[in-house]
Amino acid sequence: MPKYWNPCTFLPRRLQIVASLTGFVLFCIIFLGTSSSDQYDPYLKDVPYGPKIQSGAHQAIDAAHQAVEHIPSLPKNVPAAPGWLNPFKAPAHSPPPEQANSTNGEASWYSDWKWLSPFSSSVTLDEERSVLPPEKNRPPIYTYFDISDHKKDDKRQAAEKELLEIWRRAWWAKGFKPVVLGQPEANNNPQYRTLMGMELEKEMEFELQRWLAWQSMGTGILCNWLAVPMEAYDDPLLSFLRRGEYPNLMRYGGLDNGLFVGGKDAIDGVVKAALSNPDIQKKKSIFDAVPSKSFTTDKNHDGIAFYSASNIKSKYSKVQKKLETDDTRVEGLVDLARLINSHLHTTWQNTFSSGIAVLKPLPQHTSTLIAPAIDLARNLTQCSLSPEPSSCPPNLYSCTPCVASSDMRISTPPIFRNTSSVFTIATVPHPYTVLALTHSTPTLDLRFVRRKTDRDTWILAATKELLGTGLSSFSRLVSLKDVVASDFSAPRTLWLTAEEIAQPTLSEEQVQELDWNLGFTIPRTPTPNGRSETPVPGPERRPPPPKQDFEGPEPSEKELEQEQAILTASRFALQGKSPDGKGRSWGKAPEGPDVKAVTAGVEAWNLADTETWKFVRAYGARKAMERAKWEEDEEEFLGKGVIGRWVDKVI
Ligand SMILES: *[C@@H]1O[C@H](CO)[C@@H](O)[C@H](O)[C@H]1NC(C)=O
Ligand SMILES: *[C@@H]1O[C@H](CO)[C@@H](O)[C@H](O)[C@H]1NC(C)=O
Ligand SMILES: *[C@@H]1O[C@H](CO)[C@@H](O)[C@H](O)[C@H]1NC(C)=O
Repeated sequence: MPKYWNPCTFLPRRLQIVASLTGFVLFCIIFLGTSSSDQYDPYLKDVPYGPKIQSGAHQAIDAAHQAVEHIPSLPKNVPAAPGWLNPFKAPAHSPPPEQANSTNGEASWYSDWKWLSPFSSSVTLDEERSVLPPEKNRPPIYTYFDISDHKKDDKRQAAEKELLEIWRRAWWAKGFKPVVLGQPEANNNPQYRTLMGMELEKEMEFELQRWLAWQSMGTGILCNWLAVPMEAYDDPLLSFLRRGEYPNLMRYGGLDNGLFVGGKDAIDGVVKAALSNPDIQKKKSIFDAVPSKSFTTDKNHDGIAFYSASNIKSKYSKVQKKLETDDTRVEGLVDLARLINSHLHTTWQNTFSSGIAVLKPLPQHTSTLIAPAIDLARNLTQCSLSPEPSSCPPNLYSCTPCVASSDMRISTPPIFRNTSSVFTIATVPHPYTVLALTHSTPTLDLRFVRRKTDRDTWILAATKELLGTGLSSFSRLVSLKDVVASDFSAPRTLWLTAEEIAQPTLSEEQVQELDWNLGFTIPRTPTPNGRSETPVPGPERRPPPPKQDFEGPEPSEKELEQEQAILTASRFALQGKSPDGKGRSWGKAPEGPDVKAVTAGVEAWNLADTETWKFVRAYGARKAMERAKWEEDEEEFLGKGVIGRWVDKVI
């Protein structure tokens, strides 16, 4: 019997049946298949036949398989989506060009407006390359940090660095590109010489250096590094800033000199007016030195918290006390960092007032699978360490401080709910993992897969409520992708692939990545002892894991162990390795099934689940890559700049 089926060669009898059956089913697809458009949602009208044909082709294969006993498994050299059976295959066009920095590990992607088509391969002509939404343009936000005459004090430097890191993380999470400027950028400005020749008040000199550094960058946002976004992602002020167009030079009521926004001409105008003011020596702030009409003032906003000297003095007396004396100043800075981080965390918790949903479709078999997500959710619902636990951020008159009796709920619904006050953590398993777990076996056999397993069970289960039960798995893909990556959903959800995250808790590296996603440091270390003077919620107050949300007995220890073993085996399988991680096949090598062929077969059987998994993987990989690239660029500014005087001036 030939290994690969080829209709042009002599066919053994059994295969002739296959060929004629396939021909018949194809005929049906061509003449009947395209007429039923009823189950297609309007999203799909631009991509008329692709998915349906693929599904039709699959039925053809199934029918053939069911009719004949010893058919060889899917020919190994055939790609997962059987283009070889697709009569409507578009005239060959070449795949879109590879974009710069568009691979990370196994994942590769193509950023394009056509990202909402069900199958990426219809655009990229490549099963492994997912189409993602175009990357959002991140407008730069500048802060000025002067480290020139830093007294070599490591502790103080570490505390300052932490504060800067908080500033960068918070703005990054809200869609900006934070850039720390320093003395070199100010020096770069031709006007710097003029400034040097003047005898100014210390405050004024510092303020003008900031402006010169900003001016040398052209245009954008100038922000004090103790001013952080303290509202939901879609807060109106933050949305305005993200647009990146600043027609007027703006200042903001209540933020003092914490935030300016403006175009090049306006910035030039202010610097010029200030430098040419004959009374500049006596002035202490930029507002005194330039005509008041230079700025437009926006009074109605509450998206940004500025931990200015006056705010700290009036609102956070414990921190203020420490900052006042030289001996405790460093401690005060450490406390200030904790205060800001805890406010960022609390604001996030308040935004998601209905709690955290850890998605758990197929609940009977996925307890281990979602364990890292539960662990993360518990840490997120915990309270962050804070010197003043019951305080609110300076921009919010009221908030619900995170106190010991935290109300933030963790649930484990089997279905995705599109609710804006819920933060969803979804762990997407590869279809190989789904099948292995639901059938409690670490090794899969393709014949078994095709005869005994349902397809795309994960996506069908996860979107049951969102889209009802009638739709095919393919038509669900568009909505699912929307839920992963749309402007509305991205800040409200976190999508992880089950095989990539570490078990039973995320690795430190993965948690760090999430810190940048969420904009604050996720609590993850037990509270140090001996700080009993501050009523800090301790690790004993870490919320318990949520109760089981589905009916039926809780999985036993033994079942959980088995799930863990299967998950490990499945992770190996995706790397093309046998369950012990050693060979390339299981059973009696070399006759045993080749692992790669089995995973490819499983992917072909579960096109929608595979597409989802790859999409989520690529989306996460691109996010990580985007940040890595920015960190690289940032090196140019950070550290090269010159730490120190600012504390006296800013605080
Ligand atoms: C991104 O691509 C550019 C040029 O293609 C390359 O120089 C740079 O190293 C890449 N960055 C990363 C993080 O791979
Ligand atoms: C989720 O809800 C938002 C706002 O209500 C809506 O804009 C969005 O289209 C919904 N997403 C899906 C996939 O239904
Ligand atoms: C959650 O916190 C615990 C300590 O309380 C830590 O061991 C674990 O790594 C943390 N997990 C995440 C995902 O932050």
